[in-house]
Amino acid sequence: MKGIILAGGMGSRLLPITSACSKQLLPIYDKPIIYYPLSTLMNMGVQEILCITRADNLDAFSNLLRDGSQWGIDIQYTIQDKPTGIAEAFLIGEKFIGEDSVTLILGDNIFYGASVTAFSQKGDKFLSGARVFAYQVPDPERYGVIEFSRDGKAISIEEKPVQPKSNYVVTGLYVYDNSVIEKAKSLKPSARGELEISDINQSYLEESKLEVLILDEGNTWFDAGTADSLILASQFVQSVQKRQSTMVGCPEETALK
Ligand code: TTP
Repeated sequence: MKGIILAGGMGSRLLPITSACSKQLLPIYDKPIIYYPLSTLMNMGVQEILCITRADNLDAFSNLLRDGSQWGIDIQYTIQDKPTGIAEAFLIGEKFIGEDSVTLILGDNIFYGASVTAFSQKGDKFLSGARVFAYQVPDPERYGVIEFSRDGKAISIEEKPVQPKSNYVVTGLYVYDNSVIEKAKSLKPSARGELEISDINQSYLEESKLEVLILDEGNTWFDAGTADSLILASQFVQSVQKRQSTMVGCPEETALK
C-alpha cells in the first residue's frame, strides 16, 4: 500500500496567512497540521509516502519532514502546478503508485479515534475496490454527501449539493485499489473546473465496490480549513494530550509504536 498526502491547494478561507505560508504548515496546538495526516498514514502501516505540494512550498515541507528515515518511512515530494482537484493526485502520483493500491489523505484532515485504528489493523487485508470514511456534520453542503437507502447502504455521493440528502459526508481519507488511476484518467473537470474525488467514489459505488465505514461517536474528524476549525482542533488536541497523557498526531510516537 502506497500513501499520498495532498498538501497543495489555495487555502483561500485562511487568507491572508496562506499567501505567505502553506495551510498544512500552520500549527494545530503544538504541531504543524501535516503531522496529523502523516501519523494517520503511519498508523495504518503505510511506509512509502508521496507528499504533493504547491511549487512555492515544496522546500518548506521537505525541510520539515525530510526523507522520513528518521521515522522509519520513506517520504518523496512532488508538485501540483494548479489546484485542479483532489482526484488529480492519482495522475500526479501514477508512477509512484505503480502497481500498488493507494491511500490518499488530505493534508489538512485530522482523525482521532478507535475506528481509524481498527481500520489500520484491517488495512493489510484491503484487496480491491474502495473504502471511505463517513462522518456526521452539521454543514454537509460543504462536502461530498452520502445518500443512504433505508437499509443503510450508500446509494449516491454528491459533491457540495444545495440540498444534501443526509448529514453524512465523505472525509479526506480514501483507500483505493490500483484501478483508481484509470478512473482518474477518464474524469472530466466539473463545473467548478476540478477533477472531483466524489466522481471517483461515485464510480466505485456504481460498480458496487465502495465500502463506506461510518466514524461514530467515539471518533473525531476535523477539516482544518477555517480559522474556527484551527482553534477547535487545537483545543481538542490540547485536551486529549493533557488529560490522557498521550500524543495526537506525533510521528515520533507513532514510529515508536
Ligand atoms: P480544500 O480545503 O477543499 O481547498 P483549499 O485547501 O484550497 O482551501 P480553500 O477552500 O480555503 O481555498 O482542500 C482540501 C485539501 O486538499 C487541502 O489540504 C488542500 C488539498 N488540495 C490540493 O492539494 N489540491 C487541490 O487541487 C485541491 C482541490 C485540494
